Amino acid sequence: MESTPVAKMNFGKSLLVPSVPELAKQHLTNIPARYVRPEQESPVTYAGASIPVIDLQKLISGDSMDSELQKLHSACQQWGFLQVINHGVTPSILEDFKREVIDLFKLPMEEKKKLWQQEDSFEGFGNSFVVSEEQKLDWNDMFGIMTLPLRIRKVDLFQKLPSNLRGIIEAYSNEMKSLAMIIVCQLAKALRIDENEMRELFSDGMQSIRMNYYPPCPEPHKTIGFSPHSDADALTILFQLDETEGLQVRKDDIWVPIKPLPNALIVNIGDMMEIVSNGVYKSIEHRAIVNSNKERLSVATFSTFNLDSELGPAHSLIGPNNPPIFRRVVVQKYLQDFFARKLDGKSYLDVMKVEARNGES
Ligand code: OGA
Ligand code: NI
Repeated sequence: MESTPVAKMNFGKSLLVPSVPELAKQHLTNIPARYVRPEQESPVTYAGASIPVIDLQKLISGDSMDSELQKLHSACQQWGFLQVINHGVTPSILEDFKREVIDLFKLPMEEKKKLWQQEDSFEGFGNSFVVSEEQKLDWNDMFGIMTLPLRIRKVDLFQKLPSNLRGIIEAYSNEMKSLAMIIVCQLAKALRIDENEMRELFSDGMQSIRMNYYPPCPEPHKTIGFSPHSDADALTILFQLDETEGLQVRKDDIWVPIKPLPNALIVNIGDMMEIVSNGVYKSIEHRAIVNSNKERLSVATFSTFNLDSELGPAHSLIGPNNPPIFRRVVVQKYLQDFFARKLDGKSYLDVMKVEARNGES
């Protein structure tokens, strides 16, 4: 099958939706009907458990019997989420990036409009995965941008960015690329996958950045900031710009809130890593809630394998005692098919399961 040129790929394009901060500014007492989400009301949450914290410096200085590696391994098996401290990202880059992201969302509407999504792409301001005019909406605005490899960048969008932001995105993107590589090599070690196989998959991998802005909401319990989903990529690094809580992870059918630790980054396993690990690691559903008095900002950096590589359980992991539970498919085709579907829980991973082969092409 012919694959679509990368430049023409649809990475979650969306119908145009109203700007949520503009709604928030109107000081409504009730939110518009499109944001009312009865299915998300009265969330069952449990604040007693918390996601594991991993010290990256300890991790990289340890050997394979190291307890930090064990901790990482069980965190990825049981939670699919961790907070990473001592991650080594240059503090001034985080600070500068944070300031520029805040400024981006504070741009006047006329300026934002110049950076709004076009019909054919998720990049720019807007939202993703909105496919019908009836679909319910999330209480957030996002700004999406493809950052790596360089050839997939939309040059005109980069040129339109405020120049300080353009410079710092470059630095931030490189830091996230290095950090993701360090973490996936540790995952390979924990999983006993050949590190070179993992490096190869990630070399010249794709990276995209999604900045999320959640304005305060007059009826926070009636709506949702970000609908439950698992990430389609291999590894996500989430930078929460402030210590406002909002992110929740589904564990044993309970939503567990994540309390942001100062100077930590959230790392989570995406669908592609679940596939490479042959189901050992879990790409866990998560969502974001909003609150009535504080805004919240976060930036997710999605790292994906090289578009031309083959996605499937790692060769160095499978064998007679560990048969593959997922099919193999070229990354670009995987992404194309994923984004052609509506964001819908974990259904696409189910399609990739070996048992799903019957009746599938
Ligand atoms: C995402 C995401 C959560 C958050 O961007 O995929 O899950 O807390 N964000 O903003
Ligand atoms: Ni996510």
